[in-house]
Amino acid sequence: MKNKELLLVPGPTPVVDEIYEALASETRGHTDPRFAATFKSAIKQTKELLQTDGEVFVVAGSGTLAMEMAIVNTVGRGERLLVISHGYFGDRFTPLANAFGIEVDVLQAEWGKQVDPILVQEKLAVNNYKAVTITHADTSTGVISDLDVLVPIIKQAGVLIIVDGVVATAALDENMSKTYGHPDYKIDVVLTGSQKAIGIPPGLAIAAFNQTALEAREALGTISAYYCDIKNWLPIMQEPSKYFATPPVNLIYAYDTALNIVLEEGIEEREKRHIAFGRGIRSALRTYGMKSLAAEEVAAPTLSCMLYPEGVDDASFRTLLSHKGVIVAGALAHLAGKAFRIGHMGNTTAEMLESAIRHIGEVLQDLGLEVNTETAITAFRKELAQIVSN
Ligand SMILES: Cc1ncc(COP(=O)(O)O)c(C=O)c1O
Repeated sequence: MKNKELLLVPGPTPVVDEIYEALASETRGHTDPRFAATFKSAIKQTKELLQTDGEVFVVAGSGTLAMEMAIVNTVGRGERLLVISHGYFGDRFTPLANAFGIEVDVLQAEWGKQVDPILVQEKLAVNNYKAVTITHADTSTGVISDLDVLVPIIKQAGVLIIVDGVVATAALDENMSKTYGHPDYKIDVVLTGSQKAIGIPPGLAIAAFNQTALEAREALGTISAYYCDIKNWLPIMQEPSKYFATPPVNLIYAYDTALNIVLEEGIEEREKRHIAFGRGIRSALRTYGMKSLAAEEVAAPTLSCMLYPEGVDDASFRTLLSHKGVIVAGALAHLAGKAFRIGHMGNTTAEMLESAIRHIGEVLQDLGLEVNTETAITAFRKELAQIVSN
């Protein structure tokens, strides 16, 4: 293992050696047929992962670029977007869409809670929206969206659905062929980044458009975008030896390898593992007197936002933990100093999480709390055993 630290921020996630090796492959020209074959494979595997009948776009950029790509190719200037926000990253769609002259309404949940689906229904009944954004899991709060509830409500209104899977894709099911109670009720766009549950370093923006979303792009005509215009990328995604803008060659090697790993594990198994990790880590940390911001019913399998017990100083906690080689993230906005965020996704293993649980307990002990690391590990293992046996 090349990693010297246990990187448990909610992305980037630990990179496994196989992926580092792919990254370190000899760089080839981006139109070289050998590279084009790898790019083709990566595109094919992305389609397999998301089961889309449409097209996928894999370009150099971060998750925010994928958000932008999803919005500007489906919603036109002066059209209306409804944002369902469970935190900081849901909120990001508002300034992004406003920058393109799109009218935005936002339904913001109290941090740690889900947006009430009735409010979504009410909004859809009074306004004519072109699309709705759903952040599958929000990295600021650790809250997950309930697609089974939201997709039918939005589709009954005939509106496009854009799912932000930045902290969900490759950990949670985002099957774009799945129907939600009616043959036409499907997710139209999934967007994501490379550095979270996919498990490669930051640098790729990935977006999948189904046929309905591709038709929406056609209907827009000329749009205020160039690099982000999927029409410029479509010929390359269909024939990767063609050129529009230079792809990040080595990241594509790594991405293809990462997708081999994901598809080999299988998305069903992967989702099960992530659910077990999420429940397990929260159960363990609760034994230390910590509380998850999100109630268990709405908590994300990929990351958790944990509130400190009384008297724990955020900076001291995270610094001491980093001295033990475990890196977690601070909380955002009004929760800064009161909570921390821990990722448990991608190619993270149960052994890594047990090690983190033990070190977190030791740091709390150093800070004067009476906690028992063995009790915490037992709680973690119990959740894992329950899920694995089902
Ligand atoms: C849910 C979600 N959406 C979008 C983003 C933005 O991605 P990036 O920071 O890669 O631009 C993030 C980043 O953490 C995220 O967690």
